[in-house]
Amino acid sequence: MSSMNGSKLVVNGVTKIFKMGSGFSRINITAVKDISLEIDLAKGEIFTLAGESGSGKTTLSRIILGIIEPTYGKVLYRNKNIFAMKRNERRQFIKEVQVVSQNPFEAFNPLKKVESYLFKTAIRFGLARDKKGAIPHVEKALKAVGLSLAEINDRYPNELSGGQLQRVAIARSLITQPSMIVADEPVSMIDASLRMSIINLIKQLNEESKINFIYITHDLATAYYVSHKIAIMLKGEVVELGSIDLLTEPLHPYTELLRTSIPEPDPDKALEAIDKELVISKRNFDSDFACKFADRCPSKMKICEREEPKNYIVNGRIVKCHMYSNKGIKMTNSIQI
Ligand SMILES: Nc1ncnc2c1ncn2[C@@H]1O[C@H](COP(=O)(O)OP(=O)(O)OP(=O)(O)O)[C@@H](O)[C@H]1O
Ligand SMILES: [Mg+2]
Repeated sequence: MSSMNGSKLVVNGVTKIFKMGSGFSRINITAVKDISLEIDLAKGEIFTLAGESGSGKTTLSRIILGIIEPTYGKVLYRNKNIFAMKRNERRQFIKEVQVVSQNPFEAFNPLKKVESYLFKTAIRFGLARDKKGAIPHVEKALKAVGLSLAEINDRYPNELSGGQLQRVAIARSLITQPSMIVADEPVSMIDASLRMSIINLIKQLNEESKINFIYITHDLATAYYVSHKIAIMLKGEVVELGSIDLLTEPLHPYTELLRTSIPEPDPDKALEAIDKELVISKRNFDSDFACKFADRCPSKMKICEREEPKNYIVNGRIVKCHMYSNKGIKMTNSIQI
């Protein structure tokens, strides 16, 4: 057995700087800046990372998955630094923390039958010695996503719909009975009519099997529908973090801006408006202000231009905004709510 214990995933002060170009044209891109968050795996929660395009969601998720190393900071999984794990610990980590990618058509080789991925996963992780032994594991995982082996047998990726293929991808991630699944925009490439069924599947797996999800999206409506906690990201930083209710009563002016883009009571229109807001902010290139939201903030103060806001704990949330310097408790290190 592995030596991993504890029940938390802890992201502690993580920064990722990509170095691009060479010589005089060298530039640094800070994709993720000083992010801290904590997930209690025993709780079985859906944690959303939301933010405009380029806000660092994928970079952060790849760091959490151990795919790219942070420039600063650490990620601890069950008390182990994921970038300093021993072989058996690493294997256990990969088994417990699975990923579902954005585009199911890219996740599967078009020349391979889809069921082969399921069988291989079961065998690779030692759940079965051969294909025959793997059948019960494969059937169980497929059943959990509303499919059966008979339905996908002998099929190639292009013979399934995007929604079905994403279900197979989720089934593959379930084979090892993970404690957490990282899903990076799992429905954005799927036909609109099938999206809700996948979102509902995630919700159901969370409720029934207590699997934790990191759900990455720029769609606040589905985030509100499925998640327990949310981190609002803006240009590589988390500006507000806490229970999903923060969407209805935002503290940070950026979250407020996102909320007021929701013209009630039509949820479809709300979605459109949020998308529009996120597209507008996408066009917004880096300002020189110390606060990343200062250039658009209706509550901007002089200090926002020159001093980066600290993280404050207010009403059980973390808010990165100068407005709370008197109302909140300043966070001294990367502890979490
Ligand atoms: N491998 C890389 N090399 C250089 N820059 C990168 C790399 N990966 C990401 N970036 C940059 O880091 C920033 C954050 O990108 P990231 O893909 O994490 O954002 P995102 O929130 O996932 O965006 P989207 O919603 O479009 O998927 C962007 O400015 C991006 O151009
Ligand atoms: Mg992304």
